[in-house]
Amino acid sequence: MRNLLIAGLLVAGFTLYSCHGSNSSDKYNENEVTSNAETPPPTTIEGKVLTRENSGNTASAATSTGIDVNAKSDSKGVGKFTDANIKVGPGIDAAMAAKGKAVFQTSCTACHTATAQKLIGPGLKGITDIRTPQWIMNMITDPVKMTHNDPVAEALLQQENGVQMTNQNVGDEGAREILEFFRQNDGAK
Ligand code: HEC
Repeated sequence: MRNLLIAGLLVAGFTLYSCHGSNSSDKYNENEVTSNAETPPPTTIEGKVLTRENSGNTASAATSTGIDVNAKSDSKGVGKFTDANIKVGPGIDAAMAAKGKAVFQTSCTACHTATAQKLIGPGLKGITDIRTPQWIMNMITDPVKMTHNDPVAEALLQQENGVQMTNQNVGDEGAREILEFFRQNDGAK
């Protein structure tokens, strides 16, 4: 313990010493590290099943738009996907869902889980219960257009304190495959 303490003091002393000689650009980096360290870790609730509501995803109707982002919406979103060009089911295309899962893991898991757990964006378990297939595909392929023009996506952006989902360029086919994965993940038969 005593040795550890001494080692700690030595490290701290060395750090102080090396900072002393730092130029202004190093100082800028120091500030950056400090502000990153303040970012809270993702919420976890031990022993409880996480839902959108209790995982820190949202307080209901917390936005000034008055829209409850946890509520079911019939919006098709704003974009090229409509009832005319997107049909789903009945049943799951398992091969398509498997492709979608792979695309999701590559392109989306930096910000989303397929459970209710929030990361940067909402946990996506149950998403097909509250959003239409067309809305989901429009969101995936053009998230900026959506958060600027679709009331539900706009409310989500507000709830995320302005953190904008980025376009991952998965393409129309990739978006359709991810949708199939979400449907499977939500228990569609
Ligand atoms: C940089 C982080 C980030 C990445 C990468 C990302 N998203 Fe998002 N996503 C968000 C945020 C943040 C929101 C909430 C809307 C906003 O603030 O832009 C969101 C919202 C969503 C929603 C709507 C959620 C709801 O509750 O209605 C869906 C669906 C979605 N994302 C799917 C995806 C998919 C699929 C991918 C991968 C192709 C992806 N996202 C990649 C951050 C991200």
